[in-house]
Amino acid sequence: MKALDIIHDEHRALGAVLQALGFVLDGIRDGRFEPDFALLAAIIEYITQVPDKLHHPKEDDYLFVKMRERLPGIAPLLDQLEADHAEGARWTAALRGALVPYQGIGPAAFAGFEATARTYLEASRRHLSREETELLPAARKGLAPEDWAEIDAAFEANKNPWSGPTGEFRALFSRIVTMVPAPYGVGAGATEA
Ligand SMILES: [Fe+2]
Ligand SMILES: [Fe+2]
Repeated sequence: MKALDIIHDEHRALGAVLQALGFVLDGIRDGRFEPDFALLAAIIEYITQVPDKLHHPKEDDYLFVKMRERLPGIAPLLDQLEADHAEGARWTAALRGALVPYQGIGPAAFAGFEATARTYLEASRRHLSREETELLPAARKGLAPEDWAEIDAAFEANKNPWSGPTGEFRALFSRIVTMVPAPYGVGAGATEA
């Protein structure tokens, strides 16, 4: 599989989990779902681990390095995207921190958790969209076949599929899907409120 397809696939999987988080937040806010803390913790684990351990290192270490070398004009965009990567890690830490009082105190602490989660969601969606609409087209257009051969080889050597080195992220993704209430997921978390 080629580097561009791998990045795109990982964006799709991550985007699906972000969508799920938005759906769950809407449901809790509107009183349609009871909060499922195991589900929220699983989503937060996914959006913490997958970008930091699997996705961003490949972008930073292979694609961005080659783009900086070949396409100097793209540096401001790469600077911004790298800053987003660092910021993303801070936001997921904040999200883990905000889940603790929500789980301990209950509904009175939902607003604080929701505000942190919505800010994270908005920043992540903006990041994914910039990569899909600006970064990847610029890479496609500006890098030569020999550059792609190098990047593809580095991705191949990295051997880190979107499922994770031992399939753990696929398992986590499946667990999330089984817990998200229908009709978005297949879980049975909806209340009759
Ligand atoms: Fe990125
Ligand atoms: Fe990305």
